[in-house]
Amino acid sequence: MMKLPESMEGKTVLIAGSAGFVPSHMAELYLKKGAKVHGLDNFITGSKSNIELLSKYENFTFTECNIYEGLPDFKDVKFDYILSLASPASPIDFKIIPLEIMRVNSEGTMKLLELAKDHGARFLEASTSEVYGDPEIHPQVESYVGHVNPIGPRSCYDEAKRYAEAITMTYKTKYNVDTRIIRIFNTYGPRMRPDDGRVIPNFVNQVLKGDDITIYGDGSQTRSFCYVSDLVNAIDHVLMLGDHMPYNIGNPDEYTIKDCAALILDSLGGKSELSFSELPKDDPKRRRPDISRVMKLGYLPKVTFAEGLVATSEYFKSLM
Ligand SMILES: NC(=O)c1ccc[n+]([C@@H]2O[C@H](COP(=O)([O-])OP(=O)(O)OC[C@H]3O[C@@H](n4cnc5c(N)ncnc54)[C@H](O)[C@@H]3O)[C@@H](O)[C@H]2O)c1
Repeated sequence: MMKLPESMEGKTVLIAGSAGFVPSHMAELYLKKGAKVHGLDNFITGSKSNIELLSKYENFTFTECNIYEGLPDFKDVKFDYILSLASPASPIDFKIIPLEIMRVNSEGTMKLLELAKDHGARFLEASTSEVYGDPEIHPQVESYVGHVNPIGPRSCYDEAKRYAEAITMTYKTKYNVDTRIIRIFNTYGPRMRPDDGRVIPNFVNQVLKGDDITIYGDGSQTRSFCYVSDLVNAIDHVLMLGDHMPYNIGNPDEYTIKDCAALILDSLGGKSELSFSELPKDDPKRRRPDISRVMKLGYLPKVTFAEGLVATSEYFKSLM
């Protein structure tokens, strides 16, 4: 079995979106491994506190910029790795900033690919399970081409990510850029925005405040949740050891939304009641990754849902 390099000393990494949830954890992993990391962000959904945290590492530098409007002039640096992780990802953003989402995943991704071509850098695109839409096969394997509504309320994100995958593959086939594509499934953990509208922050914060837990639909829809430290470990495996074909990244343990609410109540010891409201249009009914491809690279999720929930709720408590 191939092994992950333990040290990244001497390597230079560009992380687009470094003020965000997943990208800030990714930046920290590579800083801890000794790489030089340069971050880019315009703070549209990211947080300045994540940049303050990363700035404690002497090998971290940062430029505030909107990546689809233009990248800094990196003439004194040569990147080994470019990680395209800049995109709002939460359903509440789909209504408020749909054009920004479409532009960063199309024009922004293309600018980063051009830079990767110029620098001879390896490039990684963070795509999403949303490229499968409301899937008709279960669990989802990478060869499944998806069931996406191109004009639905989620299409600004789903279709933009499908375009991001297409342009990444085109830079591979046309210019032989060394590319990776990951399809991230639901991820949770510290540094998520408490108000980002996704299941775990919603439920945990409702329980912490003693409010009712709001379930959309009857709660029988399923999701698979991956703790963020497992996710960044999976990304590292794909970047270092993978190939250019897409990889599902996540944790295949599947929970109904109702089970998820019960587990959160159980692990946090809250007294909240369940309240039910209408299921949003195009909300996927079942979502579970087949991760056999990334497991062949040596990746295995390690953090149980109960452990991850405790760490996440500690983080949300610290913000109260
Ligand atoms: N968190 C998940 O469960 C999940 C699931 C699937 C895919 N992803 C993908 O992973 C990546 C990170 O997601 P996240 O959940 O950490 O989101 P996030 O919003 O916390 O992080 C994204 C970062 O990108 C920045 N950004 C957005 N547009 C930008 C622009 N034009 N210029 C510069 N910076 C910009 C934001 O300010 C933010 O800091 C995204 O590409 C997302 O689509 C995440």
